[in-house]
Amino acid sequence: MEVCNENKRELDRQNEYIEKSRVYVTAFQVEHGRLPKACVVTFGCQMNARDSEKLTGILSKVGYELTDSEEEADFILYNTCTVRDNANQRVYGRLGHLNSLKKKKPHLKIALCGCMMQEQAVVEKIQKSYRFVDLIFGTHNLFRFAELLSAMLASEDMIVDIWEETDKIVENLPVKRKYSYKSGVNIMFGCNNFCSYCIVPYVRGRERSREPEEILEEIERLVEDGVVEVMLLGQNVNSYGKNLENPITFAELLRRVEKIEGLRRIRFMTSHPKDLSEELIEVMRQSPKICRHLHLPLQAGSDRILHAMNRRYTKAQYLALVDKIKHAIPDISITTDIIVGFPGETLADVEETIDVVRRVQFDNAFTFIYSPRTGTPAAAMEDQVPEEVVHEGFDKLLAVVQETAKERAALLQGKVMEVLVEEVNEQDPAFVTGRLSNNMLVHFKADRRLVGKLVMVVLDTCHGFYYTGRMVDWLSQTKHTRLGKMVDNQWLN
Ligand code: 5AD
Ligand code: SF4
Repeated sequence: MEVCNENKRELDRQNEYIEKSRVYVTAFQVEHGRLPKACVVTFGCQMNARDSEKLTGILSKVGYELTDSEEEADFILYNTCTVRDNANQRVYGRLGHLNSLKKKKPHLKIALCGCMMQEQAVVEKIQKSYRFVDLIFGTHNLFRFAELLSAMLASEDMIVDIWEETDKIVENLPVKRKYSYKSGVNIMFGCNNFCSYCIVPYVRGRERSREPEEILEEIERLVEDGVVEVMLLGQNVNSYGKNLENPITFAELLRRVEKIEGLRRIRFMTSHPKDLSEELIEVMRQSPKICRHLHLPLQAGSDRILHAMNRRYTKAQYLALVDKIKHAIPDISITTDIIVGFPGETLADVEETIDVVRRVQFDNAFTFIYSPRTGTPAAAMEDQVPEEVVHEGFDKLLAVVQETAKERAALLQGKVMEVLVEEVNEQDPAFVTGRLSNNMLVHFKADRRLVGKLVMVVLDTCHGFYYTGRMVDWLSQTKHTRLGKMVDNQWLN
């Protein structure tokens, strides 16, 4: 009850600031004869993409018109990532351009938020070398964006507000979704795992789960609003609910989400192998809604490196887990993340990783070169790997990843599968792009009005990582329905 009241108080406060900022928007309109435009640029993961939808939700409520063009914008907000150093370098690179934009347009306001801003050294550098930035805030006080925006609009000085930590989760703030038919849904925030290379626990804080009722209500509202697919988001979804007053497992949450009528597809991200339960495999196996895709970061195949990474599983345990999953759900697609060049890693260690790739036959693997992050244990380790050795291992691994992924993709040739139509094809507007349950993309000729609908498609030609296909015609689609193979034909209505 207390939590509810506290949430309501914070929401009311933020709504007051939204009203305050609207006064600025009205004044802008009088002066310029148009609404001010805001451009939000997202770096990094799905979690950040969802945060950006919350930020644009507030900007829309305040009255800003949204734009993708930095040149046109009167307010630019970068939602940053710091998981690897190249993400940081991209932000610094683009800040130079923003400086010249601001010189041409002095009323332009510039704000930075997200993971990178939780690093003290970054904030100090911006305060010293990028004085033209108007507002900096972090990950823990994102729910106060309306308040910070209003302070920024009233001030000529740089405003910096970074919190070390928070235990607060503020529900029901406005959100502006990028897609009408699919949405990310945060189920938890932060991470307690402290993998030795990873900065996330330091910039996103300790693990906090949302109450299942709040999650279910949010998804019900989304479905009422036309959403057919949700992606449940957390750094480690398999430990969802463990620290709630009334603990609940992730598998149980999925069972409840599954019952929501009208919801057609459920995805989730990310699973830590050490916490993936038999119960979860069973729920996935039985579910017609949970997508046939599991992202299961491996990071490395050598036991010595896995130990130094503090991953808390061995190569054999990972392989056994994959076997169990594939046995229970034969049509599942498994993807992964791999790091090459962790301190002390030799080419023989990389061979162990390659061995796992060959045995598992990943449908896709995101391969990263190790990037030392200040403050993490791995950054202080002595035996950092020379660049040439890293590149040699990386190239070898990448070749095997691409080869196995191609082989896996080819297996679907000629199959008829359900596709969620996601967008009009960028190259040819007569085509649309859709996604299979296993996350693979398919391009096929179809009417743009099908965006957001589920249709059956023949997978004609495999192009390595995607297919081109043909939509099954209406008559056979209804036949599929009668045969019980297909449940969606609402696109006809
Ligand atoms: N260097 C390289 N890759 C990293 N990742 C996380 N931290 C680092 C780092 N310091 C990768 C991991 C993780 C993915 C999101 O990013 O593979 O799963
Ligand atoms: Fe980083 Fe490990 Fe947490 Fe993933 S599980 S966010 S890699 S610390």
